[in-house]
Amino acid sequence: MALPLLTPRLAIRPYDPDDHEQMHEVLYGDPEAMRFLNGVIHPDETKRTARHYAEMHVRRGYACWVVEERETGFIVGEAGLQPFGGEGPDVELGYAFGSAHWGRGFATEAGRAIIDEAFGDLALDQLVAVTRDENTASQHVLGKLGFVPAGRRTVWGHDQPYYVLDRG
Ligand SMILES: CC(C)(COP(=O)(O)OP(=O)(O)OC[C@H]1O[C@@H](n2cnc3c(N)ncnc32)[C@H](O)[C@@H]1OP(=O)(O)O)[C@@H](O)C(=O)NCCC(=O)NCCS
Repeated sequence: MALPLLTPRLAIRPYDPDDHEQMHEVLYGDPEAMRFLNGVIHPDETKRTARHYAEMHVRRGYACWVVEERETGFIVGEAGLQPFGGEGPDVELGYAFGSAHWGRGFATEAGRAIIDEAFGDLALDQLVAVTRDENTASQHVLGKLGFVPAGRRTVWGHDQPYYVLDRG
């Protein structure tokens, strides 16, 4: 699969370990953005996370990726695919943007491009997703992307609504 994925406003590319400082400023250190993601983390953990996703992309051909706004070249968040609950075998769509960049359709725009790749080049048959009960904005994004509710799963330390999207 060829990255960067380009959408009208966004460039989606693998993590580079050097992204950690900007990503911490934009996302992992933003209490509002991290509210449903177990809270802000220490900058050292953001550094480990950037390295983890960079390695995951090399190993699996997919991972959580960096999302940049093409007009500015600045990081606005992350989005991508990872093994569900860290283990798979299902593949999970995820996304998170700094709160300064919410409400502009970025999650939907990035999500659509990633879904096209998942069912295209990566030839997956299904994607799954989870989001917290209180995260109504994320539930709305999943609905716009075509995901349908499919019960609940305990994952990432929480019992959460679970969604699936089948190819086609
Ligand atoms: C959830 C999140 C990714 C949405 O990103 P975004 O770029 O603002 O999303 P979009 O603009 O593409 O779409 C948001 C939609 O939800 C709607 N929305 C916004 N806040 C909402 C709320 N509190 N409840 C319900 N819908 C809401 C918007 O109106 C929009 O819908 P519309 O296009 O029909 O008007 C963003 O808020 C975020 O990064 N949150 C923190 C991290 C996170 O929770 N990630 C998801 C983990 S599962």
